[in-house]
Amino acid sequence: MPAPTHLLRAALAVPPASPTVSPPAAKPAAPSKPLTVTVTPLSPGVLSATALTPHKLRVYDPGYAHTLAYTSAITSIDGAAGHLRHRGYPIESLAANASYLDLLHLLLYGSLPTRAQLTRFRRALYAPSASLVHADVRAVVSAFPRSSHPMPVLMAALSALGAVSPALNPSLAGANVYACPRARARAQLKALGSMAPLCAGVFRHVSGLAPAFLAPACGDDLTFAERFLHLLGADAHPVFARALELLLLLHADHEQNCSTATVRQLTSSGVDLFSALSGGVAALYGPLHGGATEGVLRMLQRIGSVERIPQFLARVKGKQEKLMGFGHRVYRNYDPRARIIRDVAHQVFARVGSEEPLVEVAVALERAALEDEFFASRKLFPNCDFYSGLVYKAMGFEPGYFPVLFALARCGGWVAHWNEFLDDPDRRIARPHQRFVGEVGPREVPPVDEREEGVSGVVVEDERGMVAKM
Ligand code: CMC
Repeated sequence: MPAPTHLLRAALAVPPASPTVSPPAAKPAAPSKPLTVTVTPLSPGVLSATALTPHKLRVYDPGYAHTLAYTSAITSIDGAAGHLRHRGYPIESLAANASYLDLLHLLLYGSLPTRAQLTRFRRALYAPSASLVHADVRAVVSAFPRSSHPMPVLMAALSALGAVSPALNPSLAGANVYACPRARARAQLKALGSMAPLCAGVFRHVSGLAPAFLAPACGDDLTFAERFLHLLGADAHPVFARALELLLLLHADHEQNCSTATVRQLTSSGVDLFSALSGGVAALYGPLHGGATEGVLRMLQRIGSVERIPQFLARVKGKQEKLMGFGHRVYRNYDPRARIIRDVAHQVFARVGSEEPLVEVAVALERAALEDEFFASRKLFPNCDFYSGLVYKAMGFEPGYFPVLFALARCGGWVAHWNEFLDDPDRRIARPHQRFVGEVGPREVPPVDEREEGVSGVVVEDERGMVAKM
């Protein structure tokens, strides 16, 4: 948008600022001394950081490894025991007895749905008002090169969804738009109802299939996975539909993981739900998070055979690379989701019939790592991503699409956390502090011709191989 000229003129007319008076030079930091403070815990094992304020203390916590940034009643994890529960229901019991939409209802509204509630919920999500993809959003997806990684396309599609939903955007409809229960419910249904068509459209576009967006199959009784497979244009075997439904359920929520915390962080600024979800997809894309689904498969392909596992593990132990699909910030035990996925994987492989050589590599790699002191001493176990990529591959998905399937599932958790966070009386804009270790100054800015070259020495190369030193 061009700057209005009267504003420019006004800015130019501002008299030059009077010379600044340099503040006194900062005192050198005093050496740290051990100190003792007495504070009352907020609850057993939990200290309120604000209790440290009177003592002029702050907490330095890289990666938030020891920080409880949010309050939630949705999902609990006991990392030492390897337990995962959604609103008190163990993941094993949900996997055996609930559908993805049952779980979504539980995450969002706090209870498992009755049959009548489930029908109403499913109808609301499948209704055109929630799931029809606007022509402008479809155009955004189609504008991407077919060679694109699907995750950036999904990010753009979610942003575009926000752009065509101005009535649900606090910047346009007013900062309090989500205080209206109807607007909030509409935003939730729009996001959750659109996710399957968007993910399917992204798949069809990058796979070179036209049209990218298919009309959804008729029938309100389809499971979430069955309907999604229809939107992909896939005539999938019921074993695949059931396996996909289960994988979606297992990936639906996992408390304050990187992408969910990102969605909350973005929400704290007051931004619209669709932009927050786009940010969630970006966080999930990273290879240390949901990108690990794809990373595991590429790692297994690189290892290639059981004989090469010792060589690969030696590189991992030498810190030259990571064993993808292993390790977790919270679990210091087998990830319960990984155990369930390993079992479903065998059903899918049996259906596919053909031998997938990477399965043998994965099983042998897991065994070798679990028996190895390096992994045992660090309590590193397989996480949910270790086997899921192999299942997706057996179903016919390309590795780049695996994190999209993760995002499709996790969108349920993101929306549930968004909803919960909006009602949190402790919600404030997320704005951490920093431990500043740079030059405090103040320094004079010399004219450009009088500056000396810095010492950064960073070499920048463009696509044509032209090199510049910064
Ligand atoms: N391979 C090799 N070493 C590992 C691995 C791994 N996968 N994970 C952790 N370690 C080592 C790490 O180097 C460190 O060693 P040391 O004590 O010698 O410095 C030690 O184990 C502790 O690890 P950490 O880096 O403090 O763990 P973190 O909590 O910061 O990171 C993680 C967690 C999941 C990012 C990490 O385990 C990892 O990078 N795993 C591989 C990627 C992956 O599978 N991600 C999926 C996570 S689960 C699903 C999801 O969230 O999407």
